[in-house]
Amino acid sequence: MGFEVIGTGHFVPGEPVTNAALARVMDTSDDWIFQRSGIRQRHFAGEGQGASDLAFEAAKRALEMAKLQPKDLDYILFATMTPDYVFPGSAAVLAAKLGLEGTPALDIRQQCAAMIFALQLVDGLIKGGAAKTILFVGAEAHAGFMPWEDWDIVEGKREGEPSPEARARANEHRALAVLFGDGAGAMIFRATDRDAGLVAAKVHTDGRYAETLYVPGGGFRTRPYWKATHFDEQAHIPRMDGRELFKFAVTKLPQTARKLCEETQTPIESIDWFLAHQANARINKYVREHLGVPPEKMPMNIDRFGNTSAGTLPILIDECTRDGKLQKGELNMMLALGAGIHWGCALVRW
Ligand SMILES: CC(C)(COP(=O)(O)OP(=O)(O)OC[C@H]1O[C@@H](n2cnc3c(N)ncnc32)[C@H](O)[C@@H]1OP(=O)(O)O)[C@@H](O)C(=O)NCCC(=O)NCCS
Repeated sequence: MGFEVIGTGHFVPGEPVTNAALARVMDTSDDWIFQRSGIRQRHFAGEGQGASDLAFEAAKRALEMAKLQPKDLDYILFATMTPDYVFPGSAAVLAAKLGLEGTPALDIRQQCAAMIFALQLVDGLIKGGAAKTILFVGAEAHAGFMPWEDWDIVEGKREGEPSPEARARANEHRALAVLFGDGAGAMIFRATDRDAGLVAAKVHTDGRYAETLYVPGGGFRTRPYWKATHFDEQAHIPRMDGRELFKFAVTKLPQTARKLCEETQTPIESIDWFLAHQANARINKYVREHLGVPPEKMPMNIDRFGNTSAGTLPILIDECTRDGKLQKGELNMMLALGAGIHWGCALVRW
């Protein structure tokens, strides 16, 4: 018993925000951002728009493709690092928005690597008989941790300059802020007797590196967990050691991919598509070249969306499904690494 993907969908909020728009509130430029990351634009969730709202739109599109109703789902997996509430997780909120009462909805928190962990969960739930039709959604509303105050200037609703203090505060986080964007991707998996589903996966976690990308404020190790001083310290904004993460990604991802291929005796040339998380186009180029994969086998969309964390892989997969790239029977590899640090690769027969 394996699984097949019977529906995909994605949703991004609002109008695209270009690199030039970010340069209105921080000292940055289209050249710097594009050369270092491959990003040209991203989208941001509006005030009051949570990850569950983006997820709901993506899920509706996936259900439509699968020709299913929400009641046909018997399990929901929701991945986000930017939930609507500290708790409960957004899986419950999404299930309610879908009109479900009682369908299990599990939150997973593996950030950008969520999809790889989710594939193992989908495989286990289906093989264990707990579910036949599973919705996986990855969605992020990173807008809430962006370091500028003047959204109306960023969004072009008002001319003018931020105050020098506001610009200086935003500049402290500019390396992080230019990378992330908001959006949601959804996939519906169904049990099948066809030779399809998870061939093998290798997933890893190294929590010694948890502070290479983490949010210092709002955690339950302080009393209270949110202090008035946190805002002054900008403790709601993630701290990122970009260089360390870059090094980790370009070392661990090719290593893990090679091991997975060795263990499953899969020649790299026999893999049809390399579906990689989009954190930085330079990371993916390095991984691809290291594995000897031609560019046409690794679809990229970071230029249009930035890094949408848990949303990235399902958004990419939806695009590649709708434009006819992904076909039944193909062997695809997924690769991702995210805060934790969690990382992994999976081979999936489509
Ligand atoms: C973040 C990242 C793009 C930064 O690139 P980098 O080449 O390491 O750049 P550095 O941080 O060394 O900064 C180089 C210079 O650019 C400046 N800079 C940083 N952000 C900038 C921005 N947005 N615009 C313009 N200049 C910027 C720095 O201040 C520094 O200036 P200095 O040399 O005068 O001190 C890169 O490290 C990266 O992508 N890392 C991986 C991050 C990641 O994948 N995160 C998600 C994991 S899921």
